[in-house]
Parts: sequence; C-alpha cells; structure tokens
Amino acid sequence: MDRGDNKTNQRRRAADTALALACGIVGTSQALRIALKDARLVAPTTMPVLLLGETGTGKESATNYVHRCSGRPGELVAINCAAISPHLLESELFGHERGAFTGADRQRLGAFERAHRGTLFLDEIGDMPLDQQAKLLRTLQEGEVLRVGGSKLHKADVRIVAATNRDLDGLAAQGRFRQDLLYRLNAFSLVLPPLRTRGHDVVQIARAVLTRTAPGKRLSRAAERLLMQYAWPGNIRQLENVVRAAAVVVRGCVITDDVLRRRPPLAGFTPASARRGESRGAQALQLLERQGRLSAASVQQGLKLSRTQTWRVLKMLEREGAVVLRGRGCSAHYVGAASAGSTSTALLGGDVE
Ligand SMILES: Nc1ncnc2c1ncn2[C@@H]1O[C@H](COP(=O)(O)OP(=O)(O)OP(=O)(O)O)[C@@H](O)[C@H]1O
Ligand SMILES: [Mg+2]
Repeated sequence: MDRGDNKTNQRRRAADTALALACGIVGTSQALRIALKDARLVAPTTMPVLLLGETGTGKESATNYVHRCSGRPGELVAINCAAISPHLLESELFGHERGAFTGADRQRLGAFERAHRGTLFLDEIGDMPLDQQAKLLRTLQEGEVLRVGGSKLHKADVRIVAATNRDLDGLAAQGRFRQDLLYRLNAFSLVLPPLRTRGHDVVQIARAVLTRTAPGKRLSRAAERLLMQYAWPGNIRQLENVVRAAAVVVRGCVITDDVLRRRPPLAGFTPASARRGESRGAQALQLLERQGRLSAASVQQGLKLSRTQTWRVLKMLEREGAVVLRGRGCSAHYVGAASAGSTSTALLGGDVE
C-alpha cells in the first residue's frame, strides 16, 4: 500500500467516524467497527436489515446510520411496534381512508407511504401481533400498501430495518412470530455488540455523555477504570444513566470512583479481577486447611498460577493468619497457623518456581 492509499484510507475512516458521530454513535472498538462496516456495506442495497442486540446497545442509532449511508432520498420513519396498541398499529403502518373507523374524520398516510423512497424502521418487531405480521408480509411481498378502509393499492418503495432484543427464532418456534416474515426480514442481520465487549468505548461514551449533559464535569482515572470493569447488562442506556446521575450528585467537577460506588449498580460491585484473586486465595486456604502443610510450589502448580500470582496468594494467606517463614534468595518457607476458627497448625514450605 503506498502513501496515497494510506491517506485515502485515513480520510475515509475519518469520514466514517464523523458520520457515525452525527448519528450519535461513539466508539472506536473493533467490535463496533466491524458492525458499522457491515452496516455501510448493506446500506446502499435494498435488502431488509434485521438489527439484533441486547437492550441498550444502540439499535436505533444504528438504523439512523444505515439510513444515512444508504443514499435513499426519502425519510427515515420509525414505528415502535411495542408502544402502539394493536388496533392502532395497522393504521399507523398502512394509513387509513376517511371514515374507515370511528374517529377517522380524514384520510391519513401510514408509515409505509411516508417512508416512500426512504427507510421504515420497525422497532421491537418481536412484539408485533400475528395478524399485523400477516399484513406486513403481504405489503413487503407486493411493495404496495392497502390503507385501512381503502380498496386501492398505493406504491411504497421502502427499505425495511427491523430491530429487536428478543429471540425471534424462539418466538417463531413457539408460533408467536411468522417464520416466513422472519425469513423476509432477516435478509441481512446485524448484531450490535454488547458494551462489555467494547473496551475503551465505555470511557469514550461516558466522556461524551458528560460533554453533552454536564459540561465542565469529568471522570477521575479510577472512575474510568471502574466503569470499564463493570459488565453493563443494560449497555449504553445504563451507562448513560449512571454517568448522568453521578454528575448530578457530585460536589465539584470531578466524578471519582467513590462517587460512582455510592449508587447502584456500582455500589458493592467488586471487579472480576479482584473476585478472581479472592477465589484463588480461598482455594489456597482450603488446601492449607485440608493438608495442614503446603509448599509454595504446590500452591503455584495446584492453582495454575504465575509466580507473581502465587506470591499474592501467599501474602493473602499471611493476612488470613498463616505464619510465613522466609527463606534465602527467591525461596520461601512458611510455617502457618490456619485461618481463624481452625485449631490445626500448618506448615508451609517450598520454593516458588
Ligand atoms: N455507539 C453509541 N455511542 C454512544 N451512545 C450511543 C451509541 N449507540 C446508542 N447510543 C445511545 O444509547 C442509548 C440506547 O440506544 P438505543 O435506544 O438505540 O438502544 P436499543 O438497542 O434500541 O435498546 P432497546 O433494545 O432497549 O430498545 C440511546 O440514548 C442512544 O443515544
Ligand atoms: Mg430500541
């Protein structure tokens, strides 16, 4: 690759990032970049896109991105299938003629016709009632819309993006989602990565939330580290809420890890690395209590630890009441009294390899 190609690539990447940012998508992780690349590739086609991903992973923002990258001149129209009552959903999607039902005092275009030459986003598609699924399938197959109370078909050139955090295959197996509609919508599926797989994006998103909602406030390094260690089951939405709440309660402008730990979900949260350390220590303690005597080498081999980890575990045993005898050089010999509650005296000896 010559320097010209490199520059072109850099420019393209900067343009992609700018477009993603304009759609509210923050992050540079590989997991996100892979998803956005797929989105860019499918965008200019007319294929339906099925966006999958846990709650709060940004399916709405991704739809915006697909639409912006598609070059389609029409509007992006969104319908939330879970938020609209089943009897209104049909008219929301397909429109109605005047007098179609009580209260329909004028004709109204539905989402399909408003999205003509654009994108129709069917959010929470897993919650669509079965009878609406049948009508949706017919409309998709024919590319024409029949308004409620109407008899004439109307053209609608629409690109569908559907999203759900539910298991559509499972729903189809239970007969709660039409298999034929699923095949139709699932022409190209795109899975949005959960936040816990997006590494430093967590920090970038948290900083962006503060810039947007609490300018002047910032996170301390330890607070950023803590945010990266949490698993975020509610994904970006949950992270946003935590950061915004911390910005409200903090005195001054620096949100420390202590501030984050004062409220759920981080109150009482112990990072996995610390939990791993604890459980190793607990295992070593059990060994010591069972055998009465342990060599450092057997701790290292038995728990499959590195040399440094072994030293940490032995220190932890010391804190728990084991008596440590230090040998010459790198070797260490221990005589231990097992932890509180045990009357046995334990002897530890051996070298850490
Ligand atoms: N990559 C991103 N960077 C920063 N913020 C984002 C990103 N993607 C989405 N968001 C924000 O995260 C929040 C949740 O996104 P969104 O509503 O799209 O999630 P969802 O996947 O549709 O969730 P659900 O399945 O619960 O409907 C929104 O406030 C959105 O603005
Ligand atoms: Mg959503």
